[in-house]
Amino acid sequence: MDFNNKNVLITGASRGIGKATAIAFAEKGAKIGINYRTNTENAKRTLEELPGKDHTLFQQDISEDGGPEKLVNDFISHYGKLDVLVNNAGISIFHKIDEVDFEHWTSAWENTFKTNLFAVSNLCYWGAMAMVKTGGGRIVNVSSRGAFRGEPTKPAYGASKAALNSMSQSLAKALAPHKIYIGVVAPGFTETEMAVVTLTPAERENLLRESPFQRMAQPKEVAHAIVFLASEGAEYASGTIIDVNGASYLRS
Ligand SMILES: NC(=O)c1ccc[n+]([C@@H]2O[C@H](COP(=O)([O-])OP(=O)(O)OC[C@H]3O[C@@H](n4cnc5c(N)ncnc54)[C@H](OP(=O)(O)O)[C@@H]3O)[C@@H](O)[C@H]2O)c1
Repeated sequence: MDFNNKNVLITGASRGIGKATAIAFAEKGAKIGINYRTNTENAKRTLEELPGKDHTLFQQDISEDGGPEKLVNDFISHYGKLDVLVNNAGISIFHKIDEVDFEHWTSAWENTFKTNLFAVSNLCYWGAMAMVKTGGGRIVNVSSRGAFRGEPTKPAYGASKAALNSMSQSLAKALAPHKIYIGVVAPGFTETEMAVVTLTPAERENLLRESPFQRMAQPKEVAHAIVFLASEGAEYASGTIIDVNGASYLRS
């Protein structure tokens, strides 16, 4: 797999899975647009750690009105062409139905969907419009095991990722004639800030026991699947969803 002369935009690439994905693509010769929301220090650190050159930071809250269009435009202004778009940025908010008031309940749904679904659908729109002009491209969306097995403490998160899966499959059909291929990676429990910050120690212990590997995924294991779906030769896998969850939840 060779990504020499390929321009890759990764949302939420300042840390966690996005950062590991940026490193994995850069190791294969790609130029990376590192998108992040607020943490410039982390983003700069990621930039410094990437092998190769011509990588760039793009600070942009993708959930803001007009954010996705601006991000894609800024990327195109800088690199001239978008070859691969990885929609990785996501949020998860605790809002267990029997423990929160109605205001918290509704704001969790709104904020989760704004980032995890509406921003991604808008990025797919603007990304695809740019790719159509240059003869094609690849989009990989980062979903979650939670889309399939339920998320009792974060129902909006699970629902947003289930919707993301469905949207990705619809777009795989709609965009194949334009030579734009869409893949989805659905990680299980992965060792990142999101996983560490949102879990209690007891929840963490339980989650570790769910996988026969008795461990969580490392971000680079998720990155490996993302890079595969974006690579030459993987076109006919368009519309697929790859689970990276240590056999903790197996779908038929
Ligand atoms: N970790 C897990 O166990 C796990 C499991 C299943 C699926 N996933 C999925 O994998 C993806 C990455 O998760 P992670 O654990 O690596 O996350 P993370 O460590 O929390 O990092 C999130 C990244 O997304 C960025 N971000 C968040 N909201 C954004 C916004 N509105 N605009 C632009 N950037 C934004 C953050 O930027 P700042 O640092 O500037 O805020 C950061 O770079 C997410 O879609 C998540 O749902 C994770």
